[in-house]
Amino acid sequence: MAYPGPGGYTWRMTSSVSVHLHGRRVILGITAGIAAYKAAALARGLVRAGAEVQVVMTPSAREFIGAMSLQAITGRPVREAIFDAQHEAAMGHIELARWAELILVAPASADFLARLHAGLADTLLHTLCLASEAPLAVAPAMNRLMWANPATRANIAGLLGRGVLVWGPAEGEQACGEQGPGRMLEPDELLRRVAGALAGGRFAGRRVLLTAGPTREPVDAVRFVGNRSSGRMGFALADALRREGAEVCLVSGPVGLETPPGVERIDVETALEMHAAVMQRLDALDLFIACAAVADYRPVGPVSHKIKKNADVLRLELVKNPDIVAEVAARSRRPFCVGFAAETDGLESYAEDKRRAKGLDMIAANRVGPGLGFEAEDNALLVLWEGGRTRLPRQPKARLAEQLISLIAERMDAQTTTEDS
Ligand code: C5P
Repeated sequence: MAYPGPGGYTWRMTSSVSVHLHGRRVILGITAGIAAYKAAALARGLVRAGAEVQVVMTPSAREFIGAMSLQAITGRPVREAIFDAQHEAAMGHIELARWAELILVAPASADFLARLHAGLADTLLHTLCLASEAPLAVAPAMNRLMWANPATRANIAGLLGRGVLVWGPAEGEQACGEQGPGRMLEPDELLRRVAGALAGGRFAGRRVLLTAGPTREPVDAVRFVGNRSSGRMGFALADALRREGAEVCLVSGPVGLETPPGVERIDVETALEMHAAVMQRLDALDLFIACAAVADYRPVGPVSHKIKKNADVLRLELVKNPDIVAEVAARSRRPFCVGFAAETDGLESYAEDKRRAKGLDMIAANRVGPGLGFEAEDNALLVLWEGGRTRLPRQPKARLAEQLISLIAERMDAQTTTEDS
C-alpha cells in the first residue's frame, strides 16, 4: 500500500513497506558521526510519511551535517543549544520533551550513548532524553571496536535494561575501511521501526527472530532428507507479532507460503544454513521463537552427483546438526527464548524435559499424528514455563498464534519486572 504524504504526493519506501505517520511527532536527534549524512534521508522519509519532525543536534554533529539542509527538509529550525532565548520562548526544552511521541537518535555515537547511560544533561538532546516520557530509540553508529568495547557493551546493556530501544547497528563495511558491526541501520529500516514503535501494540519496538518450516538435508544432487512441517505456525506467529508492532525477521525453510506483510524473510534450505542465518541476527534481539522442524541429523558428505540404484542395500550415514535454539539460549546475553515440541505421546513430560535441557524460557508443545500438528490447518498447544502452564485449545493456527504471543508478552514483562526488582 501507499499513503498520501503532505502536499498530496505518495510515499512508498524502496523496501516495498509503506509507512503512515500522519501527524506523529518525532524528535530526530543527530550526534557526531559519519553516518549523520544519512539522517537527512531519514528526516525526509519521516516527513514524507507525514510525521512532524524536530531535529535536535549535538554541537559536534554540526561538523558532519549542515543544519540548513535539515531545516529545509523538516520545515523547522534545527535545535541545538540548551539555553537559546529565541527557541525557549517559542517552545521550551521541557515543552519540546512533552511534544515528542518518539525520540530517535540516529546516528547515536559511543560518546552520546555513554552520556545517556550516565544520565548527563549537558546538551539539549540529552536533556530531552531525560525529560521525556516518550519512547526513546537509538541507532548506534561507530567503529566495530568501539561497539565491541566492554564500556560500550555495558552502556548498551544498561540502556536496554531501562527500556531504551536499541536499533542496530548493522554489520558491513565501515567508513574507516574496516568490516564488522557498527554501521547505522539504513534510513528505510529505521523508518519502518519508527512506524512499528508508534503503532503501539504489545511488541512495539521489540525485535523478534523466528525460525519456521522444515529443513532439507541433501543426500545427493537430487534427493534430501526432510520432514512434513508446513511452516504455517511460524508464519502465523510472524504475522501476529508484526501486527502487534514487532520488527520481525523470519528464517524459513522451504515452504509454499506467502510472506506476511511487513515481515523480513530469509530463505534457507539446510539446518546449517538456518543456524548461520540465526547466529548472524542475534544482536539486540528481544525474542527468539524456534518454530522450525529442524532436521536433527544430516547425511555425511552429500555427493554432488545422483546416486545410482546399483546396491540392494544403501547405508546412509548421518551426523548430528547443531541445536539452534539451545545454542541461542545458552548465550550470556540472550533474547527470551521460546521453543516448540512436537510429540506423539508423553506430551507434558517430554516437553518439560526439553524446555529444561535446552534452557528455554517457554515451550509450546503439540501432539503430532494423523490430522494433528504438522500439515493441519489448526492445532492445540500446551504451553510450559518455569512455574506455570496453560492449555490453548484446538483452533486455527492464526488465532492460536495470537494467544501464544499474548502469553509470551506476559511472561516477557514478568521476567523484566523480576530482573528490575
Ligand atoms: O529436540 P527437538 O527437535 O524436539 O526440539 C524442538 C525445538 O528445538 C523446536 O523449537 C525446534 O525449532 C528447535 N530445534 C532447533 N535446532 C535443532 C533441533 C531443534 O532449534 N537442531
